[in-house]
Amino acid sequence: MTMENVAKRLHTQPQEVLARLRFIGNVAQELGYPVYVVGGFVRDLLLGVEDYDLDIVVEGDGIHFAKELSSRLHVGFVKHKQFGTATLITHDKVKVDVATARQETYEYPASLPKVKPGSIKDDLARRDFTINALALDISRNNFGALVDFFHGRKDLNKKAIRALYDISFIDDPTRILRAIRFEQRFGFTIERHTFTLLKDALKKHMLEAVHKHRLRDEFILILKESQAFKCIKRINGLCGFAFIEKKLRLKKKALNTLKKIEGTYTWFRDNYPHKHKVEVWLLYLMVLLEHLDSMRLKKVFKEFAFRRSEMDAASIFKEESSAMLSRLKAPIAPSVIYKILQPLPYEVLLCVFIKAHDKKVKDKIRDFLFTYKSIQIHLNGEELKALGMAPGPQFKRILLQLLYAKLDGKFKTKEEELIYLRHNILAKSCAKNGGKV
Ligand code: CTP
Repeated sequence: MTMENVAKRLHTQPQEVLARLRFIGNVAQELGYPVYVVGGFVRDLLLGVEDYDLDIVVEGDGIHFAKELSSRLHVGFVKHKQFGTATLITHDKVKVDVATARQETYEYPASLPKVKPGSIKDDLARRDFTINALALDISRNNFGALVDFFHGRKDLNKKAIRALYDISFIDDPTRILRAIRFEQRFGFTIERHTFTLLKDALKKHMLEAVHKHRLRDEFILILKESQAFKCIKRINGLCGFAFIEKKLRLKKKALNTLKKIEGTYTWFRDNYPHKHKVEVWLLYLMVLLEHLDSMRLKKVFKEFAFRRSEMDAASIFKEESSAMLSRLKAPIAPSVIYKILQPLPYEVLLCVFIKAHDKKVKDKIRDFLFTYKSIQIHLNGEELKALGMAPGPQFKRILLQLLYAKLDGKFKTKEEELIYLRHNILAKSCAKNGGKV
C-alpha cells in the first residue's frame, strides 16, 4: 500500500473544513477509534475540486462515535441503524456522515447489501471505483496520511475509472450510471476491463433489476450534473433508457432540445430578478419522456414515485406545449400572453422557451418572465374594502382585471388605476348585475 502524506493539501482547504477534520480526529484519538475521511472528499481533494461532504469512517462503533461528536459539537444527529451510519445535523456548509468500517455482502444481484463490521481495508474494498476507494487518516498522530490499497492515486493520475472487483456492476448496477457520471464529470475514461464488465452487466439487463426508487435517485444525480447532457448522450449511445421505459431511446431532435437546457437554465438562474428555484433535472426528464404516450408517461412517474407536481409538469409539457407555441405565434396582447404562461411551472416555461424556434415567440416568453411578472397594481383587497366594497371572491377577479389592464398599458398611476376601476370594471359589472358589484 502506498503511504503518502497529503496534510499540505488539507491546509489548502477552507478553515472550517480543516478545523472540523482536526476536531473529529482528536475526538477519535481520545476514544481510541482509528478514524478516516473516505470516498468523494479524498478524490476531490487530490483533484483540487471543492467538496465539503465529509464521509467519516471509524474502525469501531460509528453510531457511538457520531453520538459523541454530536454532543461535543452541540448538533443533532440522525442514525441509520441498518447500515451502522449516522448523519450530523451541522449548521454550516460542512456536512458530516459517520460510518462504522464495514464489510458488505450481496445476497442476490442488485439487492441492498448485508453489512458487518470490518477494517478500513474491508470498507474500501466494497466500494465502486478505485478513485473512490481512497481514505485519509485524520487521527492526530497520523493526520493526512493517504490510505491507498487499490492504486486509486495512480488511477486519478491516469484519469481512469476502474472497478474494484469483477462483479461490482452485478452487485450494484447503479454503479453503471455512476461510472458514466464520473466519466463525464471529470472527463475520465472508463478503463478497458471495467468497460467490458459494464457492458456485460448491461447485456444482462442489470439496471432493470434495480429497485425503481434507487434508480430514480441515481438518475436525478446524473441530471443534476453540469455535464448532464453528455451523460444522457453517453447512456443513449450505450444502452438507451430501457431502465426507465421499454425501448426508450432518444432521437436527434430530442437530443438537440436537451443540449440547450444547461445554457437556458444558467441564463435564467443568473438573470431572473425574482427568487425562484428551478429543478433543472426535471427539465431534462420532461424532454426525455416527452414522446411517451400519456398513459406511459404517468405510469413512469408513478412507478418511480416522483412527486405529483413533477408528473403534472411533465404532462402539461407533453400535452400542451405545441398548442401554446402556436397561440404565442399570433400577435396577442400582453395580458393574453400572461394568461397563457402564468399557470405554468417554471420548468415547463423554460422547456417551452427552448422548444420555441420563432424569435417572436421567444421574445414573448422573455417579456413575460422579465417584465410582465414584475408588474404590480397599486390597489389590493384592503383598499377595495376602504372604497366601500364588500369583500368576497369577486375581489380576486377585480384585481386580476386591473392587472390585465395594466399589462396592456391602460394606465400607469394609482389615480388612473382608480379611474379605470370605477369606469371600466365597477360600472360594467354594476350594469351587468342590475346595480350590484
Ligand atoms: N459508493 C459505492 N457504491 C455506490 C455508491 C457509493 O461504492 N453505489 C461509495 C463510493 O466510495 C463513494 C462513497 O460511497 O465515493 C460515497 O458515495 P456518494 O456520496 O454517492 O459519492 P461521492 O463519491 O461522494 O460522489 P459525489 O461527488 O457525486 O457526491
